Amino acid sequence: MMPFKCNAEVRGNEKITGDIWRLTLEVPALARVASPGQFVMAKGSKGSGPPLWRRPLSIHQVLDDARIQLLIKVVGPGTEFIAGRRPGETISLVGPLGRGFVLPEQSGNVCIVGGGVGTAPLFYLTSRLLGGSVKPESVKVFLGGATATDIMVLAKDFKALGAPVEIATDDGSAGYHGLVTELLNRLEPGKSWRVYSCGPHPMMKTVALYCLDRQWPCQVSLETLMACGISACLGCAVPGRGPTGLAGGGGYLHVCKEGPVFEAGEVAWEL
Ligand SMILES: Cc1cc2nc3c(=O)[nH]c(=O)nc-3n(C[C@H](O)[C@H](O)[C@H](O)COP(=O)(O)OP(=O)(O)OC[C@H]3O[C@@H](n4cnc5c(N)ncnc54)[C@H](O)[C@@H]3O)c2cc1C
Ligand code: FES
Repeated sequence: MMPFKCNAEVRGNEKITGDIWRLTLEVPALARVASPGQFVMAKGSKGSGPPLWRRPLSIHQVLDDARIQLLIKVVGPGTEFIAGRRPGETISLVGPLGRGFVLPEQSGNVCIVGGGVGTAPLFYLTSRLLGGSVKPESVKVFLGGATATDIMVLAKDFKALGAPVEIATDDGSAGYHGLVTELLNRLEPGKSWRVYSCGPHPMMKTVALYCLDRQWPCQVSLETLMACGISACLGCAVPGRGPTGLAGGGGYLHVCKEGPVFEAGEVAWEL
């Protein structure tokens, strides 16, 4: 599906934590075609908002064939502007962009590992998995955050999808006291797991190496700085592995076009 530019009308804006907001947007053309793991480049609609490049944001959920949701953590002027939009206002989107997650064709054990706002694309993925071939009892969702406040609302939303959720917090204010990656030790080693992950780069590196070690299929959604989102500026490059990757004598992977979702083995984690 070729990406296109469109205006999206804000239908709702829910505060999730002090700096995380969930925007519901009416944008039928996108809602009908967006896959889990794909993203949009967003900015103010014509004549509104600060004079900034578009910002990449994952598709957090598709509610029906007209509405999508974005989960936005305010870290600077772009996210502050988009997260601050109120019902009735419009923003401009380009999408759907990138390669999303590959969903399994058959049932099997699935583990979702999300860290902080990196959990955003995993929500749409989980709802699609549970609406398809994967049974709730075969799924484990591990969510990590700095504190309970960062993660409780999202944990409740994942549970509402029917997924069993375990959480880890850095300060021990809820769930396991420690890193979310340490929850991977709770997966029964005798079984094979298909793992999907998104979050801070060091977290995904740990998840990827853990899975590669066990020969479990693992897909990660990388977040890099992105200026264009359409493979024109080369600003999103990460070292790749294999014949076309840097570690295999080749070069870089472009997260906006070849990703943001990669097989764990495609990324040269050590570089
Ligand atoms: C494919 C993709 C999907 C994303 N999905 C989401 C999402 O669903 N929700 C969400 O809140 N954010 C998401 N992000 C990150 C988001 O795009 C950035 O936080 C945003 O561009 C920052 O813009 P800003 O103007 O608010 O802040 P800026 O002033 O541009 O940046 C503020 C600070 O954040 C750092 N920063 C900016 N972008 C990134 C990044 N990608 N990774 C790490 N640090 C960064 C900057 O270096 C700077 O220190 C995604 C990024 C990518 C590449
Ligand atoms: S963001 Fe410009 S090439 Fe990927």
